[in-house]
Amino acid sequence: MRHILHTNQLKKEDVEHILSAVPKMKELCDNLRSGTRIERPLEGKIIACVFFEPSTRTRLSFETASLRLGAKVISAENARDNSSAQKGETIEDTGRTLSCYADAIVMRHYEMGSAEKMAKVATAHVVNAGDGANQHPSQGLLDLYTIQKEHGRLDNLKVSFVGDVLNSRTLRSLVPLLILYPNNKFYFISPKELKLDDEYRKFLQDNNVDFVELDELNGTLPEVDVLYMTRVQKERFANVADYEKVKDSFILIPEHVAKLKGDAIIMHPLPRINEIDAEIDGDSRAAYFRQAQNGLYVRMALLLYVFGL
Ligand code: CP
Repeated sequence: MRHILHTNQLKKEDVEHILSAVPKMKELCDNLRSGTRIERPLEGKIIACVFFEPSTRTRLSFETASLRLGAKVISAENARDNSSAQKGETIEDTGRTLSCYADAIVMRHYEMGSAEKMAKVATAHVVNAGDGANQHPSQGLLDLYTIQKEHGRLDNLKVSFVGDVLNSRTLRSLVPLLILYPNNKFYFISPKELKLDDEYRKFLQDNNVDFVELDELNGTLPEVDVLYMTRVQKERFANVADYEKVKDSFILIPEHVAKLKGDAIIMHPLPRINEIDAEIDGDSRAAYFRQAQNGLYVRMALLLYVFGL
């Protein structure tokens, strides 16, 4: 089985194989939308999309990707309440059961390590669509593709992650991909309550990653190539008071954007709450909706890779 659980499992050649297929995926979608009949590479496959946490982009783009490629989709969009997990079924038994029906399982779950648990017993390919604050590999790949498309390179970049650095699975998915390329430098900007944890800091140090941790945004703005804003992950807080204290720590406003380089890009995995003022949406450097669009094509390319195509 070719499970996709963590971006650190992908070698540079795997990443480049997936990214190189993305423009063809866009072409395939454009052809289908204009009514051209084309061969569908996943005809006959069934893909289960099982989401134990809310999602708009990941679930619907994986479902669209599957359908565009000719697969059929079965789905549980509120699996926490509406699947037999609600009766106490384990992730392993859910994986064994879904493997009886589907060729691949795309799963989002609130528990860190859940996709790995399922992959240990599943006889269908497992694609991690987000497991707690741990990983979101397809997001990492679509973010990497977006940076390559916008900047024309994946090396010699200064990348700033801003907000909930502690709980961001998108950060933990993108960084291992960007460190496959030389001379990338990272700024992790957060309130003190949401700093990197010791384990992740050690991972960065062990891998000789060039990084700085900061608690203010302004000083770095004139030099960054990628300004990656993140949502404060309310669902990861033990109590609401702790969330309320930090939720508005970093809000990007036009005065910040005025300090960015002309070719810098602003990214966000979305959904945004108020981390980016809507006035910024019209700025050509605001790449977050292009990023979401890329997600469809990257997920199509990823599904082909999963099936060895
Ligand atoms: N970026 C992302 O994972 O969005 P959704 O939660 O809407 O899937």
